[in-house]
Amino acid sequence: MRKKLVAGNWKMNKNVVETRELLSALASGLDSVGGAERALCPPFTSLFVAAEALTGTGIGLGAQNMHWEEKGAFTGEISPSMVKEFCAYVILGHSERRMYFGETDETVNKKLLAAQKADLTPVVCVGETLAQYEAGETRQVVVEQIRAGLQGVAPEFAPRIVVAYEPIWAIGTGKASSAENAQAVHGEMIRPTLSELFGEEAAQAIRILYGGSVNAANAADFFAQPDIDGALVGGASLKADEFIAIAKAAAE
Ligand code: PGA
Repeated sequence: MRKKLVAGNWKMNKNVVETRELLSALASGLDSVGGAERALCPPFTSLFVAAEALTGTGIGLGAQNMHWEEKGAFTGEISPSMVKEFCAYVILGHSERRMYFGETDETVNKKLLAAQKADLTPVVCVGETLAQYEAGETRQVVVEQIRAGLQGVAPEFAPRIVVAYEPIWAIGTGKASSAENAQAVHGEMIRPTLSELFGEEAAQAIRILYGGSVNAANAADFFAQPDIDGALVGGASLKADEFIAIAKAAAE
């Protein structure tokens, strides 16, 4: 049985003061939902205070991105070991990084191999645009992102990988995918590709999250699907009550 993971992607929201406020609103409600793994991914500038605040809770911390190199002349970047000082998770290849900051399957792959080396649990994002969805190209796009982004991983590390299927047309739009569509992508496209790459046993262990307008009202529908192993939550993760409700739905 794959333990469900609910991860909050705060994106570029919350300064340090606001981070403390949101964490204190989340803490007790989220801490008690042990049936699901929970992680929060605030901006880099909040990781230090968030790590302090979450010590001793069952809630994990993640970064939203990192560079693949360990150190050096990379102005504005954060290295895997810097992330590892505070975090157990790192989001890689989010569609906003691909769209606005030039990330490609190749850079995602470099970062994934760096996460493996740094002993971080990577949450690798894939997903098609609206035009690709409407043209019926979802399978082609997602399979290629997985094959190219996840190549070269050690067999022991493969089961640690978390994949997040986030159709771009569903992110921040309030128009979530149907649970049936997400299940079809997870179960018929992503998991078979993982099996091709890493073998059936590892593919069965890898968590595949759905992301894109997940909220307290629709979360349970997603979690009822056999190949939906949790959620990557953007907007709703900034509202304590919503996010706690989503985590509860995952724990049931
Ligand atoms: P959303 O974002 O929940 O606001 O749609 C999800 C994400 O981008 O990870």
